[in-house]
Amino acid sequence: MIDRIEEARAAALAAFAAASSLAGLEEARIEYLGQKGRFHDLMKALGALNPQERPRAGAAANRARGQAAQAYEAARGALEKAAARVEWLDVTLPGRRPVLGHRHILSRTAAEICAIFGRLGFSIVEGPEVETDYYNFEALNFPRDHPARDMQDTLFVSSDILLRTHTSPMQVRIMEKSPPPVWVVVPGKTYRRDSDVSHSPMFHQVEGLAVDQGLTFADLKGVLTAFATAMFSPDTQIRLRPSFFPFTEPSAEVDIACVLCRGRGCRLCKGTGWLEILGSGMVDPAVYGFVGYDPARVSGFAFGMGIERVAMLKYGLEDIRLFYESDLRFLTQF
Ligand code: PHE
Repeated sequence: MIDRIEEARAAALAAFAAASSLAGLEEARIEYLGQKGRFHDLMKALGALNPQERPRAGAAANRARGQAAQAYEAARGALEKAAARVEWLDVTLPGRRPVLGHRHILSRTAAEICAIFGRLGFSIVEGPEVETDYYNFEALNFPRDHPARDMQDTLFVSSDILLRTHTSPMQVRIMEKSPPPVWVVVPGKTYRRDSDVSHSPMFHQVEGLAVDQGLTFADLKGVLTAFATAMFSPDTQIRLRPSFFPFTEPSAEVDIACVLCRGRGCRLCKGTGWLEILGSGMVDPAVYGFVGYDPARVSGFAFGMGIERVAMLKYGLEDIRLFYESDLRFLTQF
């Protein structure tokens, strides 16, 4: 009996070790460990032994069956692991595309604005974000202690140095450096102490400046109409409202007909039918005085718009903070 047990044990171990597939291993399991397998037969045969022999043979049979079961589990583990490795390398699976990045919606909007003015003959220049009081205010005809300075909640670095509150200081820097004519747009970061759903302490503007011979308010209106129709839609209406800036005279705030209700009045335009998009005006002769231009020979216009504001109107966004949170669920929509 002991010999038969030993034989079955050796055969089972060999069969499990030899199995090269899970299906082959399963056949061997049924043959040895199955309900009608060889170990089952051996256990039944134990009943026919005499009582002196039975305990020793029973213990040996149990041990052998245990070893066979262990060998089976080990062989199965190894085959499953190998199968998983093969699956991991399955070259027939469709590939995983790497996620492609793209430009941020604000960069794209800035580029689009600049491209429109580029087609109208403007060049693109950039300037410093840390400015002096002189360029940000003084040379733009904001006298010291003038209440108009309160329109812009300035972040000061020192009493004379500040984070530019608008891109307008570049008007002065450009005219200082080059004689007329100038046709430029200036995209860039601007800073104000202000924060809510439509204001951020850091935001972006595009400044525009055209100074040439014989430019009039009609040129300003024509250029801004061309911009609005190119940026929003070909039938976009614009409206100019009298306004005030120390560095333009006359000054005008420019509205476009509401992109949502097309002028009928809705929640976005607060029932007015119009949305404000920029400030503008004819360059004030006082500014020419700071840069050495002769107001008797040249004239021009300037405008400045918030890039966030333009993007929010164009894409119907209600919270400016979405631009800066780097949330891919938001960014990948554009
Ligand atoms: N700099 C002004 C602002 O930030 C906008 C503006 C620019 C107005 C150019 C007139 C001319 O509010």
